[in-house]
Amino acid sequence: MEAIKLGILGMGTVASGLINIIEFNRNKVVNSLNKELAVSKVLVNNLDKERNVNLPKEVYTTDAYEVINDKDAEIIVELIGGIDPAYDYIKSALNNKKHVVTANKALIATHGEELESIAVKNGVKLMYEASVGGGIPILNTMKENLSANEFDSVFGIINGTTNYILTQMAENGLEYEEAVKEAQRLGFAEADPSSDVDGDDAAFKLSILAALAFGQRVKVEGIPKEGITKISKDDIANAKELGYNIKLLASGIKKDDKIELRVHPAFVPVDHPLSMVKNEFNAVFLKGNAVGEVMLYGKGAGSLPTGSAVLGDIMYIVKNMDKSDAGVVGSKKYRVENKAVKQYYIRMTVVDKLGVLGSIASLFGKNGVSLSSVVQRQKNGHDTVPLVFITHEAERKNIDAALEEISKSKVVSKIESIILVENFK
Ligand code: HSE
Repeated sequence: MEAIKLGILGMGTVASGLINIIEFNRNKVVNSLNKELAVSKVLVNNLDKERNVNLPKEVYTTDAYEVINDKDAEIIVELIGGIDPAYDYIKSALNNKKHVVTANKALIATHGEELESIAVKNGVKLMYEASVGGGIPILNTMKENLSANEFDSVFGIINGTTNYILTQMAENGLEYEEAVKEAQRLGFAEADPSSDVDGDDAAFKLSILAALAFGQRVKVEGIPKEGITKISKDDIANAKELGYNIKLLASGIKKDDKIELRVHPAFVPVDHPLSMVKNEFNAVFLKGNAVGEVMLYGKGAGSLPTGSAVLGDIMYIVKNMDKSDAGVVGSKKYRVENKAVKQYYIRMTVVDKLGVLGSIASLFGKNGVSLSSVVQRQKNGHDTVPLVFITHEAERKNIDAALEEISKSKVVSKIESIILVENFK
């Protein structure tokens, strides 16, 4: 039986998942393709390292170009991550007329348009399902099964580390730092979790989702982002009391000729399907103008789930090698803006004396922000009390202007948090 040869760049968690799935699902793969999959060359850093995959020693090399230029390899699988040197490797592979599969969100978000045009020019395919949502088949679903739709919005919980941390804070009462440690202990968070907790990882993924949803490339620099490091147990408790969970949302919303993209913690109503997405799980909730609401849920990281997405792409290429592919067509020209006209939750600490609430409410009013509810929490034990406001819908810049004035008031000790309330309208 004919074998399709794979050249693999990197042999870490995802690559070993890929090799293991090819082995334990061999019958399924062969029956589906009517071909075998074989590995020709694998790029590694260390030739002597023990690995939990069943590959002969001769396939390993420390020279990336031995993999990329190997005449037997028809598909190059890039699993080293990061922009450099993956960018050069993928360009070389495509120019060598080899199909490429990658899980590299930073690279695709940054150079996806250029790489897709190189692929199209060379008549080969570039696929990257594993770059967003790990094992969740979101990109190909949007590109193929939902291609009959214009998308009105896409909301994702697309970072498992932060979802795990927020879930543990909400369900087990952990402080932020404790939840981070627990996530690290279980392997959900990196030793340096900053790219996850600061929202960078989700912003890369949102950039890719937005290109598919709206046909428009927006670089991460153009996506406002806020991470979860300032979320406290008090905010989570207040959210619960008001009927919400706090989630790190990646949002893409289209209105007329505008799109708004952002990554930020949000109050999500407890009865919304995204509220039920817990711990390390991811989900993407879409609204298509024909299909309506669709949500895909699953594991956003890990050896086998991400390996599953990579192998799915490889199998698609093997089945469609002879068909041309236009890549993602970026023809839409929306205005990208971030007015964020939403309700907001605001928590502040104020001096507990007559007239304080009235003076704060009037500063909100002066800046065009109308209040929906106000709750005064119990005393902090000193002379101050926490106040919790939910506003009516207002533009974020009006909220910021109001809080700028409010923060200067002598009776306000601190503006503790501002969190967008997402009602998915
Ligand atoms: N670090 C990511 C997450 C997984 O926590 O979801 C890889 O994209």
